[in-house]
Amino acid sequence: MFISIDGGDGTGKSLQISLLKKYFEKQQKEVILCREPGSTRLGEAIRNILLNENGTKISVKSEMFLFMAARAQLVEEIIRPALQKNQIVLCDRFLLSTLVYQGIAVQDSMEEIWKIGEIAVDTVWPNLMILLDVDPTIALQRIKRPLDRMESKGIDFHQRVRAGFLKAADKWNQIFPNRCIVVDSSGTPEQVSQTIQNIVDQILFIKY
Ligand code: TYD
Repeated sequence: MFISIDGGDGTGKSLQISLLKKYFEKQQKEVILCREPGSTRLGEAIRNILLNENGTKISVKSEMFLFMAARAQLVEEIIRPALQKNQIVLCDRFLLSTLVYQGIAVQDSMEEIWKIGEIAVDTVWPNLMILLDVDPTIALQRIKRPLDRMESKGIDFHQRVRAGFLKAADKWNQIFPNRCIVVDSSGTPEQVSQTIQNIVDQILFIKY
């Protein structure tokens, strides 16, 4: 079972993933956590290039390919082998993020990005994608450390990101019906976590 959690900056993905991990572990299930970009040696090196302000010039297209390269490595090195061992994989962000962030940057190029994404994931599609959705003004206030390169792009950008995620979720559901579920994450972490657990239980009940 492969589940990814996506959403704009500050929507609470990392916290929700750790709560979901605990939920599965209580049921004696084996869980692997990963994050994008990252989790492999190559992926973490790419993450460093992408998220740190270090003067390296990165064109919009190169940025997209770097995210995809990190993803291809993650799929081959970690996700596919874990799924073969029947482990549950929880991933902090996945292809939906590239469709949105790089799709916005290169203007409506979701179709192209989708095609490259298909190559990167190489048939390893999430069984379930959770999209955490909340007003960016609330989301950004939740981040208590200095903002990184992506986070400090301004409120307009984050509004477009939010709209982009909802559009990408629709697109995803056209291709894989009901596999991307939008969850309102304006509530307390416990409320949001309960909603996610209910969704996951339903999916497990229906499909597995
Ligand atoms: P991260 O620190 O993991 O952010 P968060 O904790 O909010 O998830 O950094 C990931 C950043 O990279 C985030 O701003 C979104 C961006 N990103 C993309 O632009 N494209 C992608 O394909 C992915 C996976 C992330």
